[in-house]
Amino acid sequence: SLLDILLLLLISPPLILCDDLINKISLLHLDFLFGTASSSYQFEGAYLTDGKGLNNWDFYTHKFPGDIKDGSNGDIAVDHYHRYLEDINLMLSLGVNSYRFSISWARILPKGIFGDINLDGINFYNNLIDSLLLEGIQPFVTLTHYDVPQELEDRYGAWLSPKSQKDFAYFAETCFKYFGDRVKYWVTFNEPNVQAIWGYRSGKFPPSRCSRPFGNCSDGDSEKEPFIAAHNIILSHAAAVDVYRTKYQREQKGSIGIVMQALWYEPISNSIEDKLAAERAQSFTLNWFLDPIILGKYPAEMEDILESILPKFSASEREKLKMALDFIGINHYTSYYVQDCIYSPCEPGFGVSRTEGLYQQISERNGIPIGEHLRSPVEWLNVYPQGMENMVTYVMERYNNTPMFITENGYGFVENPDSNTEETLHDDHRVKYMADYLDALMRAVRIGADVRGYFAWSLLDNFEWSYGYTVRFGLHHVDYATLKRSKKLSATWYKQFIAKHKGKT
Ligand code: NOJ
Repeated sequence: SLLDILLLLLISPPLILCDDLINKISLLHLDFLFGTASSSYQFEGAYLTDGKGLNNWDFYTHKFPGDIKDGSNGDIAVDHYHRYLEDINLMLSLGVNSYRFSISWARILPKGIFGDINLDGINFYNNLIDSLLLEGIQPFVTLTHYDVPQELEDRYGAWLSPKSQKDFAYFAETCFKYFGDRVKYWVTFNEPNVQAIWGYRSGKFPPSRCSRPFGNCSDGDSEKEPFIAAHNIILSHAAAVDVYRTKYQREQKGSIGIVMQALWYEPISNSIEDKLAAERAQSFTLNWFLDPIILGKYPAEMEDILESILPKFSASEREKLKMALDFIGINHYTSYYVQDCIYSPCEPGFGVSRTEGLYQQISERNGIPIGEHLRSPVEWLNVYPQGMENMVTYVMERYNNTPMFITENGYGFVENPDSNTEETLHDDHRVKYMADYLDALMRAVRIGADVRGYFAWSLLDNFEWSYGYTVRFGLHHVDYATLKRSKKLSATWYKQFIAKHKGKT
């Protein structure tokens, strides 16, 4: 209480006082959510079990195993489908009060379309949700984490068609209907900004458009398709939110949001040009989705630069979009430098020019990494804890302090032939990463950011998309031969951190 703090002020030597005071004013809500995050394709396995249909990732990893670093796939993944009770026990020992997971759309609607509900799939998630709640762990549920039933790809090109909006809204409503009595946190999409670029421009994700022509994908399409897919995703999100708000929210009393990949862009110099380039980079990644969903329109920079390439919202769509969320989910791992190529010469591949190339994020220039060295063994992951504070305060300011959750944050370790289990279990780099990033998060909270939860990626090592199983993000190690889970140092550290901060006001 305040009285305690005042008393401490009077009696303690300054250093101890300082430390204690910082703990006391960590300002995390009593109901702050501490959790770990996962997704269905990366965790569940059981890809043909109990009536599940095939999704885009099943199709892609089987058709193009060469696109995945170790030629692997999520057929078995970490077998969470059969081992969820064991995994809930791991959560219990961490002391978390929430678990972020995603529902496999093709497990609920094997063909993705109206009517055809797979009750075995419903049962699986009912059991998972009930078992979590029994242990006091709040389910935090993502409706789609990069996955879509393959049937919808085959029928109409999934997100490239406006038809996806109705089918997604139906899937979302099915989930509200069956699970919404117990699920109080809904996320429509995970990182649609990544999905749009990687699926329709760089081709690292299915449907792998434009890097590998499926049908006819000309250069013109690769300019347009990410924006068309994004447009349909934004409207699909709005359609699901509309169903939730009009039919379910009052009774079920939950909240609904979207999760974005949030990269911090640091201007490489103090020049106005580089600062503007960093703002544009943010517009083309984060604000691309959040501006329409919160403010009802695309960022002005996108409209100016893309002109007719950017699809338009109708007046009624704009109305529906305004404040079409209750919270913003932030996946924040890393930061990049940005430089404007018009005013300063850029090396090839480093270009963030004024009119294009905003997708090419700059991580280093002339060998200067962002932060003090600090690069994780995963090449995209520069370790820059200050980016967390910058990112959260940026979102707070731009979106009027809409409630936020850090829906993912974590550190990747690359498995190589020399790695041994002992080394991966003693993950002091991950501990340092989490401690420093959480510290930076607390600074943002102290400034006033309305952050309501933090989810570590991830409970377990798992299938890391195009890296397959070569990159490990888990607080627990998974032996892929036996699927045995073992606690890493970071799990012990996170447990202590939570115990220290849980319920502090
Ligand atoms: C974000 C994605 O949501 C998740 O699926 C992925 O595994 C992590 N980043 C780590 O790359």
